[in-house]
Amino acid sequence: MSHPDPALDQQFPSTAVMAQAARRRMPKFAWDYLTGGIGREEGLDRNRRALDKVTLAPRYITDLGKPDLGATLLGRSFAAPFGVAPIGFGGMMWPQSPEILARAAKALNLPFALSTFSTVDLERIKVLTGENAWFQLYLPHDPEIAEDLIQRAERADYQVLLVTVDIPANTRRPRDIANGLSAPPRLTWRNVWEMAQRPGWVAETIIKGSPEFKNLMPYLPKSIGLADSTRYLLHLVEGHMTPARLKQLRDRWQGRLIVKGILHPEDALACQKIGADALVVSNHGGRQLDAAIAPIDALGPIRQAVGPEMPLIVDSGFRNGLDIARGLAKGADFVLLGRAPAFGVAAMGAPGGDHVLRVLKAELAGTLAQLGCPKISELPKFLTETRHKPA
Ligand SMILES: Cc1cc2nc3c(=O)[nH]c(=O)nc-3n(C[C@H](O)[C@H](O)[C@H](O)COP(=O)(O)O)c2cc1C
Repeated sequence: MSHPDPALDQQFPSTAVMAQAARRRMPKFAWDYLTGGIGREEGLDRNRRALDKVTLAPRYITDLGKPDLGATLLGRSFAAPFGVAPIGFGGMMWPQSPEILARAAKALNLPFALSTFSTVDLERIKVLTGENAWFQLYLPHDPEIAEDLIQRAERADYQVLLVTVDIPANTRRPRDIANGLSAPPRLTWRNVWEMAQRPGWVAETIIKGSPEFKNLMPYLPKSIGLADSTRYLLHLVEGHMTPARLKQLRDRWQGRLIVKGILHPEDALACQKIGADALVVSNHGGRQLDAAIAPIDALGPIRQAVGPEMPLIVDSGFRNGLDIARGLAKGADFVLLGRAPAFGVAAMGAPGGDHVLRVLKAELAGTLAQLGCPKISELPKFLTETRHKPA
């Protein structure tokens, strides 16, 4: 059964409600880290507005039975065309949030992408998630560390590597800087005060252990503090992904390679040329360049550049099942969500993983039913701009 649990549903009927509860349960610095954008945070609004502009024309006079949400991506079938995006330092949002979401993704047969900067190591996630696990790689400059990470992913039997290319420089996010965390928290008096106001989060953190960069532990110098380790690790991966490095990675990795953080058709073509298997059209949830085009608007030009065969995954700003349908109607094959699943876990703890994914799925099913759309691949036919185009 993949319907939402009725009792949880009554309390948390949407990710918007989950976000409100999450905000009440997370320390402010963690909430800011999860929800913040860069600069004036206009990119966050742009992502939202671009999604809201996508309208669909429903067909009510139809023979449609139950719509089919099933989707195939890179040779694998999933229960629905969406998955969980990689989130660095996930254990700070809610203790063991990556493990909770990884288990839920497996239970619902959706993909879960583990961040390089995760608070849990890639070996453990593979055990929890099996074939549904993808490993997100920030490619370290140090060739030995890069090779070791890739070998670990191979030994753990990951089939999909998702390499993120949109952090050419350490990102200045005003909220995080003001909170004294260039990524995870330093123990300032203010942060301690903020934690004291969230006893549930603190109690869980004490029970489950403080978050740390578990996945990258082997590469950290001994006896380095959390704040210094953040700087060290960011420095390890920052810089542009050159075509040569990407090609080298393509040649080295025998499994499926997805490139994440593509917004420009020329970049999409470059990835296609080196043999990438799929792209994630993403502006990192408005966290990198405040003027970045909304991915939903970038889909059309990128699709035109790469042609109909290249699988396109989209993310940034997707919050509900209708948004997922909008992304697919605009030509994406799959959607990733970062913050929305995190809201579910922060709102409810362990049961939140399953619940948030079930709610998204139920909303998507409801959207298809409303549209009179029998299956995912037919969603583009319901795009208003397509339907109203003169013949
Ligand atoms: C707190 C946070 C941490 C993130 N960490 C990573 C990361 O480690 N690797 C990565 O490729 N993307 C990372 N992202 C970007 C997400 O994978 C995804 O692109 C983004 O969250 C999508 O936007 P949404 O949150 O509006 O769904 C992060 C996003 C957030 C919000």
